Amino acid sequence: MLVAETIGEIRRNVRQARTEGKTMGLVPTMGALHAGHASLVEVARARCDHVVVSIFVNPTQFGPGEDLEKYPRPLEKDLELCRAHGVAAVFAPTPAEMYPREKLTWVTVEKLTTPLCGRSRPGHFRGVTTVCAKLFNIVGPDVAFFGQKDAQQAVVIRRMVADLNLPLEIVICPTVREPDGLAVSSRNQYLNPQQRRDAAIIYQSLEKCRTLVEAGARDADEIRAQMQATLAQVPALEAEYVEIVDAETLRPVDPLAGKVLVAIAAHLGATRLIDNISLDIR
Ligand code: PAF
Repeated sequence: MLVAETIGEIRRNVRQARTEGKTMGLVPTMGALHAGHASLVEVARARCDHVVVSIFVNPTQFGPGEDLEKYPRPLEKDLELCRAHGVAAVFAPTPAEMYPREKLTWVTVEKLTTPLCGRSRPGHFRGVTTVCAKLFNIVGPDVAFFGQKDAQQAVVIRRMVADLNLPLEIVICPTVREPDGLAVSSRNQYLNPQQRRDAAIIYQSLEKCRTLVEAGARDADEIRAQMQATLAQVPALEAEYVEIVDAETLRPVDPLAGKVLVAIAAHLGATRLIDNISLDIR
């Protein structure tokens, strides 16, 4: 497995694989790899001959006061996971390699980036789309793989790729969960044991929504109130939003109909967690 720190190295690796007729898969990550990332790599390996994982804690998607400095960076462990899952090459650049000069050019997706996480994290999605556009240009994958856990990110990246006619396919893979339902996330490791137990309430609240919808409920405000009540069982948890939106436009839907995204962002102490489920309501 090649570990490339420079754009030149990874481009040479990809070019060589291309001359061998291989198809190219990219799994963009910020490292601190876990079972969710491993599942993305597995899907990528089933689809593509040559899988590249990028590991880059992207400073442009963190706002002031967010966890850029403390974000875990266990590179050796990450490389082990990549080796164990048959990754062909890891691209792990430094910030200076990715952003060598004053940053004047951005890729911005409008409208889809303002609701949900966009409200509390202005500039976050601009950083995500810009770094993804750069990674797509550097690696040139046929397919890039992302997790459904970051549902808004997935919608935004798909839209960027469509609007800019970028020549790749975006594949979104299901959220991987712990046995108690908590979505696997690199940020779960910030939680203390009590917070870790409490965090399971987020998925219970999402499941509450599913149960209500299956029982025929369609009124968004009523459903959201019951989801909030479920979250309130953990007083230490502070809900940032509980939203039911159209899965494509991310606009609120009421009454519930069609493909909807049910999404929660919540804080446990200093840790911000997000999760969602998708429902197809006929
Ligand atoms: O989902 C992530 O880990 C990041 O937002 C991504 C897509 C790798 C861009 O930095």
